[in-house]
Amino acid sequence: MANSSPWPHSVDFLIMGAGVAGLRAAIELAESASVLVVTKESLRESNTHYAQGGIAVALEPDDVAPHLTDTLAAGDGLVHSPAAQVLIHEGPTRVTELIRWGANFDREASGELMRTREGAHSHPRILHSNGDATGAEISRSLVAAAKTHPRIHFAEWTTVARLLTTATRTRVIGAEIYDRENHLHCITARATLIAAGGAGQVYSDTTNPSVATGDGIALAASIGAELADMEFYQFHPTALAIDGAPRFLLSEALRGEGAWLSNHRGERFMPALHPLAELAPRDVVARAIAREGLGSNPGDSFPVYLDLRHLTIDLRHRFPGISATLARFNLDLARDLIPVRPAAHYLMGGIRTDLDGRTSIAGLYAAGEAACTGVHGANRLASNSLLEGLVFGARAARAMREDSEGATLDEFADEPAQPRQLAAAEEAALEAHIASLGRLMWRHAGLLRDKSAMQAGLNALAGYTAAIDALIAAGKGSRRLSEAQSLGIVARAILLSALAREESRGAHYRNDFPKRDDAKFLKHSSLRLDRVNFSVW
Ligand code: SIN
Repeated sequence: MANSSPWPHSVDFLIMGAGVAGLRAAIELAESASVLVVTKESLRESNTHYAQGGIAVALEPDDVAPHLTDTLAAGDGLVHSPAAQVLIHEGPTRVTELIRWGANFDREASGELMRTREGAHSHPRILHSNGDATGAEISRSLVAAAKTHPRIHFAEWTTVARLLTTATRTRVIGAEIYDRENHLHCITARATLIAAGGAGQVYSDTTNPSVATGDGIALAASIGAELADMEFYQFHPTALAIDGAPRFLLSEALRGEGAWLSNHRGERFMPALHPLAELAPRDVVARAIAREGLGSNPGDSFPVYLDLRHLTIDLRHRFPGISATLARFNLDLARDLIPVRPAAHYLMGGIRTDLDGRTSIAGLYAAGEAACTGVHGANRLASNSLLEGLVFGARAARAMREDSEGATLDEFADEPAQPRQLAAAEEAALEAHIASLGRLMWRHAGLLRDKSAMQAGLNALAGYTAAIDALIAAGKGSRRLSEAQSLGIVARAILLSALAREESRGAHYRNDFPKRDDAKFLKHSSLRLDRVNFSVW
């Protein structure tokens, strides 16, 4: 097909995703090469954009060791320590550089950067912007910096349909992408980075935006790349719990400022469960809320609340975005109990990479939430993820440049076969399938898991996959069908990995194996072509 699109079909480097990791990598690569950033919607629509609480960083040298200790402790024994060392040691350079590029973090009247505290941090070290809009500010400043580079091209409203490989499938040479009109194009590149974020949409209850469908992880898995730690899905403790409303994130910074959690009897329940009370690690708080909500009889469902009514700070000023959203539901942080429940928030697992973003397939790199370096172990420390995107995005870019030095671009002679559109009835059925998958995963692979539920989930998933595969076999194709396929692949990876880990650790809790089993499972899971193995990294 002649190139009718406004972006090139052949570039040095292809980046999938325009969140913090993808943009940071693009800026690094554009120093010396052409880059195409593909993103499913507009540049601002990423998980990064919605991050509220902040970015954790050890700006003072004497905070490096405590930040590392907190990260290791939150990860429940499974943090890959070299990855955490890299994160915490390189973080200050990356954040300082971001401030130089124009990112505005909130400051005291003295000009000092303000810092807040969140769960499992030993003291306040989290920078924030515009109160509770840190992700939006980081995204804004990275987009602005990237747009000054003439060698960076953006393909908005495009979806990667598949990764292109050499005939032997040993090297990635680009990708096939849908444009906004549902036309497929081949893009060739010397190296491809997946920085497409997480997969919260695999669960019915999620804080993630609709674009978070795990596409990058699924595409990598489809060509045989190794995934790791897919059983570890972090459930954020406090999403807004109003029937029919999206699970809007109520930042952990609310608890950092002193919010309490109370049950339907008005009792504050966290102090009895953990010495850090409401600031216990996220997995501990999320499970405690889930249990309070369950009650003791089957079918019970009780509300749990965030309570800030005792605080004296100006909550509307400190949390302007959250306050504005709550006002739409006639709720006020200073006046009302705020109903909350956990929701899927962040995938600690993903495409396994080394510390420089290299995956198990040549030419393919991953960074940010789509990747798994092991930096978060079994449970991510709050506000470490924006830092992860900056640090590992820059490192992946350097590896892409070094590894592909002297390499020529592969020719990809075949034009993609253009897909047939889905009929309206097929689109409606597809939406129903996707919604049912979210409910299935919430029920069968949510906060509290067991073997029989997960096995039933896998069996039910087979029907979902068959329906999606039938559409693809009929030559149909669209962004939404690709997303549906990705969600099915990610769901299967979560279920298979969670079934194999017969212990409870971090975000992965099994009612049938309620204890941590270091003898057998102080190891990372790895999933390749449906087979799960455990190994020490
Ligand atoms: C939050 O603001 O609670 C989210 C921060 C994070 O996920 O690290």
